[in-house]
Amino acid sequence: MIPLAMPNLTGREKEYLDNCIDTTYVSSVGEYVTRLEDMCKEACGCDYAVAVSAGTTGLHAALTAAGVGRDDLVMIPAFTFIASANAVHHCGAMPWLMDVDENWTMDADKVEKALKEECEIKDGKVLHKVSGRRVAAIMPVYTLGNIPDMDRYRKLADEYDLPLLADAACAIGATYSGKKLGGLADLSVVSFNGNKTITCGGGGMVFGNDEKIVGLVRHLTTTARVNAEYEFDMAGFNYRMTNLQAAVGCAQMERLEEFVSTKRHVRKFYEEKSGDLKGVSFFPKSEGSSCWFSGIVLDKVDGLDDVRRICSVLKEKGIEARSFWKPVHLQQPYADAPCGNLSRTEGLWNRIVTLPCSTNITEEELEYVAKNVREVLGKIG
Ligand SMILES: Cc1ncc(COP(=O)(O)O)c(C=O)c1O
Repeated sequence: MIPLAMPNLTGREKEYLDNCIDTTYVSSVGEYVTRLEDMCKEACGCDYAVAVSAGTTGLHAALTAAGVGRDDLVMIPAFTFIASANAVHHCGAMPWLMDVDENWTMDADKVEKALKEECEIKDGKVLHKVSGRRVAAIMPVYTLGNIPDMDRYRKLADEYDLPLLADAACAIGATYSGKKLGGLADLSVVSFNGNKTITCGGGGMVFGNDEKIVGLVRHLTTTARVNAEYEFDMAGFNYRMTNLQAAVGCAQMERLEEFVSTKRHVRKFYEEKSGDLKGVSFFPKSEGSSCWFSGIVLDKVDGLDDVRRICSVLKEKGIEARSFWKPVHLQQPYADAPCGNLSRTEGLWNRIVTLPCSTNITEEELEYVAKNVREVLGKIG
């Protein structure tokens, strides 16, 4: 089977893991954790980074450090992996779900309109008029490694005095207007889950340029301990990354450029090989996108049955293909979350087929996938 997105562990991962075992540094203290933080600061062009146990825990800690709390609202896109919403929920807050634009990232026009028309400012707080809840943060998601108009989001966040966070889970290696990710939001979070471009098995990184807020994330994620005598000044989290995870991550980060370049190549390959196919388009790509995932989008309205059929025929041919994120407002835990006009999200999510895009996929495998996609689309018509 040609897998969808398999970890590529052919660098120094084993050597570094052996070193953890040999030195007994397997837990959350160890040279690889600090080294990985330094590598991420360099790769993301920022001053501070904190290694955490997962993207989700990183988002939870980042939102908490940004002041998101009980009954607040956080503006996030409806079209995202459910972890973005879960992190908001774990703060006791609720996502306010926004539509996406042509790059599948949160639509800045709709966010601005929602702030303008559906909120009022009272005692310095941005209040959602219908629910009376405080809007506590704006959190775009860098879907597929595509970066939305972050200059515009910066302006909006400043205008409304709201923290700007970025769910950059899939975006390591991406750039925006030639800039690295580190300074685009107050806090950004990448994921090192097994299906990401860089993996630690599981893990994440929270980063930014503000020493105070990233310092608070570090404090919160390491149980808010103030000294060696078991004294704590907050209800913190045990969200620190382990040295074992970081050992894998360091070996992976040594190959970041190579991996991102392969991801971009895979996306381009599918587009070039299948660009003439009728009835489909390809995954969108912002300038500087890290192209985390690749695949096709059926032109058909509500094509979920076709998506399922295509995936099952490809599976018979030894190719793993899947549908993509079901939006947050259609998920049972968030059925009551406030949402704006989600027309693009509604018309998009059920037409997507993700295709194999591992960083160790071969040219022969890519040819084989493209050939079979052509055949199956020909049959389905
Ligand atoms: C957009 C997005 N946000 C958050 C996450 C959560 O990251 P993790 O799985 O590392 O908790 C993921 C991926 O898994 C993701 O794709």
